[in-house]
Amino acid sequence: MKLRSIELALPDPAGAAAFMVDVWGLTAADQRGDTHYLRGTGTFPYLVAFEKTDGEFVRSTTFVCSEDELAGLKARIAAKGWPARSVVSTDPGEGHGLLVELPEGTILRFLAGTSEVAPIEGFAKSSKRVSPVKLTHVVFNAADAEAMGHAVEDVLDFRVSDRTKGMVFVRCNDSHHSTAFARAGFASLNHIAFEMDDLDAVMRGIGWMRDNGFAPAWGPGRHGPGDNVYAYYIAPFGPVIEYSTAVEKVPADYQAGAPDDWTWPEQRIDQWGISDKDFAGLRTAEERFRCHRDWDADETIEN
Ligand SMILES: [Fe+2]
Repeated sequence: MKLRSIELALPDPAGAAAFMVDVWGLTAADQRGDTHYLRGTGTFPYLVAFEKTDGEFVRSTTFVCSEDELAGLKARIAAKGWPARSVVSTDPGEGHGLLVELPEGTILRFLAGTSEVAPIEGFAKSSKRVSPVKLTHVVFNAADAEAMGHAVEDVLDFRVSDRTKGMVFVRCNDSHHSTAFARAGFASLNHIAFEMDDLDAVMRGIGWMRDNGFAPAWGPGRHGPGDNVYAYYIAPFGPVIEYSTAVEKVPADYQAGAPDDWTWPEQRIDQWGISDKDFAGLRTAEERFRCHRDWDADETIEN
């Protein structure tokens, strides 16, 4: 199981795509109707889709999986009775699978039979430009993050990796987290994190953003759980986006830490302590994009 992409709907997909290509470093992959698809240098056909709508919302966050994993998901989701719909993807990479709405409204899509593309080479360090490789995590705000962690363990066969005062980190493979639920008191998109090649690429990304007039809302820094380096920005079209690198790999029997295992010394909220955090700006941005289901659930999910 791998996190692949996020599908966002918003009024100005062309403007959002222009920022994400010209400044953030993604590459235009395809355009189908009013929907723009952007990719990284890795092998996924796209990482972000921007669809034109009047409002702004998260249509889905997409994971790719095997046929066996999809069959297991369908059986457990049907048994649990979560709203779900069988789908055939018309996005790049195609595939077939399932759209499912989690208890607080988070919408995930699981696709099997998807195709990949050749990686992009040639983002040389001599260039000021950087490019993300892929998504590394998509984090959601939750009214009850603890319940969401249990729900995705039970029904999706994900695993909680760590619990902190602020977050429940969840993995779907050996990466410490591919998603997480923030203890926010409301449900929405918290942030979208893009994997960079290495620490140097994160730092050069901060430089390229600075060249373009953007300062981090938080970072650079290094998190506790996952041990990844981060720099968070508020995208001009709304959501919080992150350059990140090297989320820790964990074994299948990794023992989930509790909030008391993840405390900081005074005046620290990361390992380095070198940057301020724009709490208010990030909070406002985190409230903008919420999941929105505009489809009817199937009465029964076809296997
Ligand atoms: Fe993150």
